[in-house]
Amino acid sequence: MPSMFLNKVVLVTGASSGIGAATTALLALQGAHLVITGRNEANLNQVAEKCYEETWNRPKTVLGDLTDEEDVRRIFHSTLTFYGRIDVLINNAGILEQGTIENTSLDQLDRMMKTNVRSMYQLTMLAVPHLISSRGNIVNVSSVNGIRPFTNVLAYNMSKAAVNQFTQCVAMELASKLVRVNAVNPGVIITELQKRGGMTTDIYRKFIRRCQETHPLGRPGFAQEVAEAIAFLASDKASFITGVTLPVDGGRHALSPR
Ligand code: NAI
Repeated sequence: MPSMFLNKVVLVTGASSGIGAATTALLALQGAHLVITGRNEANLNQVAEKCYEETWNRPKTVLGDLTDEEDVRRIFHSTLTFYGRIDVLINNAGILEQGTIENTSLDQLDRMMKTNVRSMYQLTMLAVPHLISSRGNIVNVSSVNGIRPFTNVLAYNMSKAAVNQFTQCVAMELASKLVRVNAVNPGVIITELQKRGGMTTDIYRKFIRRCQETHPLGRPGFAQEVAEAIAFLASDKASFITGVTLPVDGGRHALSPR
């Protein structure tokens, strides 16, 4: 078994699907002691079972809603109960809802800020003392939407811009304590995110086809490609990297109209 994360305790949020599930599988292969969390018990168990079948390494699962403060505390304390330490926190869970300033309600804004930003803040607060002890690191899953403005996803963009600032500020705050903090900023990645956010199958198909133009590399990305970047930033190979927000977006962040 490759051993980049051998005996490292890694907590992954939003692990029951998409980028979180792909990251879990990759880190399991690298020997990590994983604690994975999500809301869907069947999907979370399926991710854990698949890992076990493929790597003989079974992640521990903890169910919980990250918008519930008590659940966040329970998720974090379960990690300590399982392993007594944490080396890597991967703040991946997130939601997307569409809308502009003309039609995004305050409830929608609150929901996206609470899920994408506040829960990340709370979990990070809980983990930091332990990450200082283990000289561990954090990888946040932001978005190209946190770097560039896109229409009709206003609250989502704001939440991901906050994740970028959060990443860089906390990186600066914890650098002297030797805790690294980084983020990945994916472009369009084929997962359930957009459909969960209300896109119909037909519109989603067109949206994915348009990636030929919206992403300079001419295609959408795959969860595995984001997982590889997360694993790199979380590993000792990135030992001199902190405070980066790394686009994993086929060049989308650099594209200007002409
Ligand atoms: P996904 O929808 O498959 O995964 C998101 C995960 O977060 C799900 O497992 C979901 O259950 C979990 N989650 C959402 N709200 C939660 C809550 N309140 N409590 C607990 N878990 C919760 O989508 P994907 O794409 O894998 O998303 C992962 C991250 O990647 C998100 O932060 C998303 O914003 C980000 N991202 C995704 C992109 C894409 O095109 N798929 C592009 C850029 C960023």
